[in-house]
Amino acid sequence: MSQQRSQWGSRVGFILAASGSAVGLGNIWKFPYITGENGGGLFVLIYLACIILVGLPILVAEIMIGRAGQSQPILAFHKIAGRRTGWSIVGWLGVLSGFIIGSFYIVVAGWAMDYTLKSVVGFTNPMAEQAETQALVYRATASDQDMQELVVEHRTRYELDRAERNWRRQFSPSTWSHWNDYKSAVEADADPEKLKEHTGIAAAANQVEAAQGQLKEAQDEILKSSRAEVSELSKASPIELRDEAETIKRRMLIRDQVTSVFMQLLGDGWTSTFWAGLFMFIAILVVANGISSGIERTCRVLMPLLILCIMTLVVYGFFQTGFNQALAFVFKPDPTSLEPKSVLEALGHAFFTLSLGMGAMITYGSYQRSQSGGLVGESVAIAGLDTGIALLACMMMFPIIFSYGQDPSGGPGLVFMSMPLAFAEMGEIGMLLGIIFFGLLVFAALTSAISILEVVASYLIDGHGWSRHKSVWIIGGSIFGFGIISAFANSAGFKMTSWLPGYGQSFFDTMDLLTSNWMLPLGGLLIAIYAGWVLPARIRKNELSDLSGFVAGAWLFLVRFVAPILVIIVLLDKIGLIDVDEISFHLMH
Ligand code: PHE
Repeated sequence: MSQQRSQWGSRVGFILAASGSAVGLGNIWKFPYITGENGGGLFVLIYLACIILVGLPILVAEIMIGRAGQSQPILAFHKIAGRRTGWSIVGWLGVLSGFIIGSFYIVVAGWAMDYTLKSVVGFTNPMAEQAETQALVYRATASDQDMQELVVEHRTRYELDRAERNWRRQFSPSTWSHWNDYKSAVEADADPEKLKEHTGIAAAANQVEAAQGQLKEAQDEILKSSRAEVSELSKASPIELRDEAETIKRRMLIRDQVTSVFMQLLGDGWTSTFWAGLFMFIAILVVANGISSGIERTCRVLMPLLILCIMTLVVYGFFQTGFNQALAFVFKPDPTSLEPKSVLEALGHAFFTLSLGMGAMITYGSYQRSQSGGLVGESVAIAGLDTGIALLACMMMFPIIFSYGQDPSGGPGLVFMSMPLAFAEMGEIGMLLGIIFFGLLVFAALTSAISILEVVASYLIDGHGWSRHKSVWIIGGSIFGFGIISAFANSAGFKMTSWLPGYGQSFFDTMDLLTSNWMLPLGGLLIAIYAGWVLPARIRKNELSDLSGFVAGAWLFLVRFVAPILVIIVLLDKIGLIDVDEISFHLMH
């Protein structure tokens, strides 16, 4: 088996396949919305630091282990050690993570397929038409007063939010959580005086209550000045005001419809299952064809196509009114909009987006020859492509989001709700852009899903000598079978709360959180420790022989100290042993 182990056709092919694995839903669906939720600029900067200090060194480590072990992750550790070793637990963890990630990944990818088809039939056209008519009726019937209020509400919504967030900064996270306990108890008719018998709660309640006037004053100020501005506008040019109110109304109406379309899909387990199955079927066909004629060949076509689609949308965005706003949002650091916890989120995302911690890169690396050089260069290219595409994804979505008055912190629905909304308002061109946009999402997801499938299936191929065809079909089928639960996770009657009372997450979210927050960072930590401390120095030297001592030394330092320490901090915070928010609050005050 091992003597005719498959190989990539070329170095470029490997880089495209590995960056195909890295570039996926994480870049296009997740990165823009977490950037939006965390206020842009500074978050992006921190994310870049995480990629360079933690992601890149672990990426090098994974490929190194793969090359040296010439096997999929479970066996690679045994092979390097020359005997059975407990480190293979990392491989088991990875295979399990792959199984779980694959199961919900294909569901989201399936939605992207569904939306591609929806875009082909122009699903937003009738919504836009209907909303246009209704908004026109609104314009003709609503009172001037109502319209002014609508415009004020719309114009001030972010400012009011921001005022509240800034105000909240004066309280420590523990004060704030006490206050929330107090508030909900009072809402449930508890006696405030009795609650305040708790010294912690009393202190928090008094502190927040004393400051409430401050917030109200700030918000009233914002509303007052906006009202003045709007009533000025209504006197000076009433038509302009009515135009604005009509536009806001139209967008609200489209938003309602776009939202309900997505909610419907989310709640429709059968349709989600169908698409997830079709997507998995395609992934199986690719992986069953082997490394160079299946995976590599597919990525060689899809990756350039993906970049072309993104560039098309970025160029379109460039000519939109919201481009400068988007540029500032993504690249201008604004320290007031960042919570310390976002740093942890950035680090967690660095793992997911580079496909680290589950042995995907060990597996892909194992189809390269040992000691074939260029390891760090390849890793830089992969991480660079991944990061570049994540940033481009922001620059393709945010200009559109801003130009059409959408909220950048729209959360997970950014792709499936905010984007269709903008497309709806563009008419015919929106249809075309929608097809390109959702199509590229499918391509990105496919090149990642095949790497997930390869990790799990290669265990049967390398470990049990099964044929590639048989392994891939069985594993792909099982991942799909397990994924059906995620496909139904948001259907009525399938909510986790029904059999795990008091637990608020759906099965889908649980799988996502379990892998991205726990399993991948844990896997990454073990890989860093292994590569930095356990892997024989001879192997490190051999694989990095073409590098200057400085670069090799820097890598060793990062993988030995910086990456493990940062990951341990993240894990401790997640376990609850330390609270990074609380600590940094006290450091700053
Ligand atoms: N990196 C992929 C993405 O960004 C997801 C992935 C995670 C793929 C882990 C393989 C392994 O979407």
